[in-house]
Amino acid sequence: MKAAVLNAPKTPLTIEDLTIDEPIAGEALVRVVAAGVCHSDLHFIEGTYPGRLPMVLGHEVAGVVEQVGPGVTHVQAGDRVIMGFVQPCGHCKYCDGGHPNLCQTKTTARAADRPILKRGDQAVSGMAGTAGFAQYSVTPATGLMKVPDGIGLDVAALVGCSVMTGYGAVVNTAKVEPGSTVAVIGAGGVGLNIIQSARLAGASRIIAVDMVEAKLAVAKQFGATDVVNAGDTDPVKKVQELTGGGADYTFEAIGLKVTAEQAYAMAGRGGTAVIVGMVPPTDQISISGLIWVQEKTLKGSYYGSARFNVDMPRIFSLYQQGKLNIEGLVTKRFPLEGINEAFDLLRSGAVSRSILEIGSE
Ligand SMILES: NC(=O)c1ccc[n+]([C@@H]2O[C@H](COP(=O)([O-])OP(=O)(O)OC[C@H]3O[C@@H](n4cnc5c(N)ncnc54)[C@H](O)[C@@H]3O)[C@@H](O)[C@H]2O)c1
Ligand SMILES: [Zn+2]
Ligand SMILES: [Zn+2]
Repeated sequence: MKAAVLNAPKTPLTIEDLTIDEPIAGEALVRVVAAGVCHSDLHFIEGTYPGRLPMVLGHEVAGVVEQVGPGVTHVQAGDRVIMGFVQPCGHCKYCDGGHPNLCQTKTTARAADRPILKRGDQAVSGMAGTAGFAQYSVTPATGLMKVPDGIGLDVAALVGCSVMTGYGAVVNTAKVEPGSTVAVIGAGGVGLNIIQSARLAGASRIIAVDMVEAKLAVAKQFGATDVVNAGDTDPVKKVQELTGGGADYTFEAIGLKVTAEQAYAMAGRGGTAVIVGMVPPTDQISISGLIWVQEKTLKGSYYGSARFNVDMPRIFSLYQQGKLNIEGLVTKRFPLEGINEAFDLLRSGAVSRSILEIGSE
């Protein structure tokens, strides 16, 4: 099967012919239909996050189940599914505690010497158990969630990362209150979902910060009440000015130390700053020692603190009611072969989201 392979950091992906193993107990084989191109994939290409190379990226994925391994009962061949990039075990302290996004328990007995993907005799690793930039994917089946009829798998793919991440950061991680003020740094695929979910949560003021004017224009369509171009304005001072001292909730949706520090600084007294962006693991975020008297909170948000079987159906329902705009996130569509162009556009800030149309439904 065809897959896009990362062979070395900072190099283009190459479309190669790989073999894929059968699903073992607890796994499923999915024929990939659509995959979004997320900045998290780009972090691995750029080398800001280390990966075991060669590697197939792609974690914002939807497709059709082709075959299930022994013991898999909640999905079957023919089901249209999202491939979650966390595959929760369902019975650890995180799963039982309502935080399945934090589960790290292995759910299958796949041995290290039996890789799912191979190029000849060489093992090829896969991102996050999904490895979606390929025609097929074998994944731990607990990560699979059925997509309701009538919802396209392109839309479902985006729910698999950017929509869940942005919506969940607002609703689950921050718990934004009606009437509160919100600032969002980075109006890309994830940031736009933070913005539209803050609108849904009833925020009175939503300030979008970006450095690309076109991004700020799109941010307004998604619910931003104010926009700040960080290229010509100090975003911290501007947000403090617009909110009378700082926002109640701030979100970093880029993945940089500097903007994480800005997010913390632009939160007001009693405010909460949520780091959604993949800040490099070697970077240290520094914050004022006055955190105690200001009663500020600094929080991370992984996969929108998702409770998958609660949140994904709600997101689909909100989408069906016209309350979440998902099609509007997609600026460009490419075949798998267009993947490097899609990453070039993401790097340059020219798209909200690109979708790879890898297979047909
Ligand atoms: N926490 C999670 O579970 C999770 C899930 C998905 C993505 N992410 C991360 O979220 C981040 C955003 O992902 P995305 O796909 O939306 O990326 P993106 O590239 O689509 O968006 C980033 C935006 O930030 C803007 N930007 C860049 N530098 C800036 C600066 N200094 N000031 C203001 N704006 C700036 C860009 O113009 C762009 O619009 C990435 O780090 C990604 O890895 C995290
Ligand atoms: Zn992602
Ligand atoms: Zn678990």
